[in-house]
Amino acid sequence: MSNMPEWLRTAVFYQIYPQSFRDANADGVGDFDGIIEKLDYIRGLGCDGIWLNPCFESPFGDAGYDVADYYKTAPRYGTNGDLCRLFDEAHARGMHVLLDLVPGHTSVRHEWFRESCRAERNEYTDRYIWTDSVWTEPDGMACIRGISERDGSCAVNFFSHQPALNYGFYRPDPQKPWQQPTDGEGPKKTLSAMIDVMRYWLSLGCDGFRVDMAGSLVKHDEDGRGTVALWKKVRAFLDREFPDAAMISEWGEPDKSLEGGFHMDFLLHFGPSHYNDLFRCGSPYFCGHGDASEFVRRYTSSLEKTEGRGLICIPSGNHDMDRLARTVTGVQAKIAFLFLLTVPGAPFIYYGDEIGMRYVDGLASVEGGYERTGSRSPMQWGRGKNAGFGNSDAEALYIPLDPDENRPNVEDEEADGDSLLSEVKRQIKLRREHPALSNTGRIEFLYAEKNAYPLAYIRELDGERLTVVLNPSDVDASFEFAAATAEVVYTVGGAPRCGDGRMTVPAMSAAVCRVM
Ligand code: NOJ
Repeated sequence: MSNMPEWLRTAVFYQIYPQSFRDANADGVGDFDGIIEKLDYIRGLGCDGIWLNPCFESPFGDAGYDVADYYKTAPRYGTNGDLCRLFDEAHARGMHVLLDLVPGHTSVRHEWFRESCRAERNEYTDRYIWTDSVWTEPDGMACIRGISERDGSCAVNFFSHQPALNYGFYRPDPQKPWQQPTDGEGPKKTLSAMIDVMRYWLSLGCDGFRVDMAGSLVKHDEDGRGTVALWKKVRAFLDREFPDAAMISEWGEPDKSLEGGFHMDFLLHFGPSHYNDLFRCGSPYFCGHGDASEFVRRYTSSLEKTEGRGLICIPSGNHDMDRLARTVTGVQAKIAFLFLLTVPGAPFIYYGDEIGMRYVDGLASVEGGYERTGSRSPMQWGRGKNAGFGNSDAEALYIPLDPDENRPNVEDEEADGDSLLSEVKRQIKLRREHPALSNTGRIEFLYAEKNAYPLAYIRELDGERLTVVLNPSDVDASFEFAAATAEVVYTVGGAPRCGDGRMTVPAMSAAVCRVM
C-alpha cells in the first residue's frame, strides 16, 4: 500500500446523495450550500471524507449518472465556484471530498454524443461504441438505434439512454471493424478526454474519485485484463500529477481493481461477495438467524489475493441498495455498525444510515431510481418543517419524506446518548483511538462457522491487537477461546465472559477486547 495517500489510511467516509441532503435555497432539491451548512455535523460524527454522488449537468434520467457536461455542475446544486467553496470549506475542517466519476457512459444530451450521431465524420465519431449499420446490434450489448443521422446502432451501458463511451474491445473481432482495439485512435482519445476531466476537477481541489462501473470500460473483456490495463494508464497519470488523489472503484473484484491502481474497491450488493448475507437477504446475519461463513470465506480469499496492494470497503449501504434499517434495527443495528467500523478498509456511511433512516415504501420512481427511490428520501435533520431538509412547500420536495411521524431525526438522536447516532459517534471515536482498528490494520477471523454465532476476529496493527466479537442473535453464543481473561475496551449490550477455554458473548451484544 505504498502508493496510498496518507489521509486514506485513517479516513472514515460519509456518502452524500446531494439532491437529498440539505436544501439551502428552498427549491425542494438539496444543494452545495446545504452540504456546506452540514459539514460540521459530518465532522462531528467523526467522518473526514465525503463521497458526493454525481453533481454535474444532467437530464437526471439516472439521478446524474447520465452526465451531459463533465465540466459543469448542475445549476440546481450551484455553480462550479460553489463546489470549489465546498472543497475549501471541507479542507478547512481537515476533510477530503471525492467526486463521482462516471467514465463508462454519458447522457444522450452530451455534446460528444450529439456530434457522434452526425453522418459526417468528426472528432467524436469514435467516442462511443457504434456498429456500422443501424440493423447491426453491438454483440451482446443493448443499444440505442434509430435516433441518429449516422447509420449505426450505439451500445449502451446501463439504462438505454446511457450510450457507452468507446474504450475499445479487448479482442476485437476482425470481421467486425466497428469493434476497435483498445489502442485504436478513438479509444485512446476517449481515455485522454476522461483524464482531462479528472485533471480539471483535481486541479480545482477535489481529492479523488469514486468511479462508477469501473470494471466494465473495455468491452468483451471477460477477465478484465483490458480494463485493468486501462486503469494502469490512469494510475501512471495520477502518480505523475496527483499522487495524493484517492481512487475508489465500484468494481466488486478487488484483485482486479487494485491491480489496476485503485486504492480501494467496494464490496457490492450484487456479484460474488455475499455482502448481502450480512445485511440484506431473507435471513441477514445481523438480524440474528443468518450465516456469515460464506461471506467470510470470500472476503478472506479476496484479502489474500490483494494482500498489501490496497483496501476493500464494506459500506453501510448506498443509493442503489435497500436502506440498512429496512432489515437491521435496534441493538442489532448498533452491532452491525460495530462490525462496519471495526473491519479494515475505509468505512463508508450512507447519509441517514447513522440515524437509522428507513426505506420509504410505495414511492413512484424519481430520476430513474425505481425501487432505489425509497433509499433516497430527504435527510431527516429534526422535527421542524420538512424534517429540517429545507423550507420549500412539501409538494415541491423532489422525493417525498418518510411519512411516518416517528421517523428518526438527527436532533432527537443527538440529545439521546442511547441513540444509534450517539452509538455510531462513539464507535468512530473508538476506531480513531486504536491503530489496530484503522483502515490498514490486519484482520484474522477466529470464529465464523456456518449458521453460527458469534462472529469473532482479531485486528492488529503497530503492535496493538484487539479481538472483536459480535452476537446479534437472541441467545448467548460461545466459541473456543484459549485466554482466561479479556479486557473489555468497548461493548454494546453487555460484556463477554471467558472461562473453560471458551468465550461466551451474551445475546444481542458485541465487544472489542484486549486479550492478555
Ligand atoms: C452505478 C450507480 O451507483 C448507479 O446508481 C447507476 O444507476 C449506475 N451505476 C449507472 O451509472
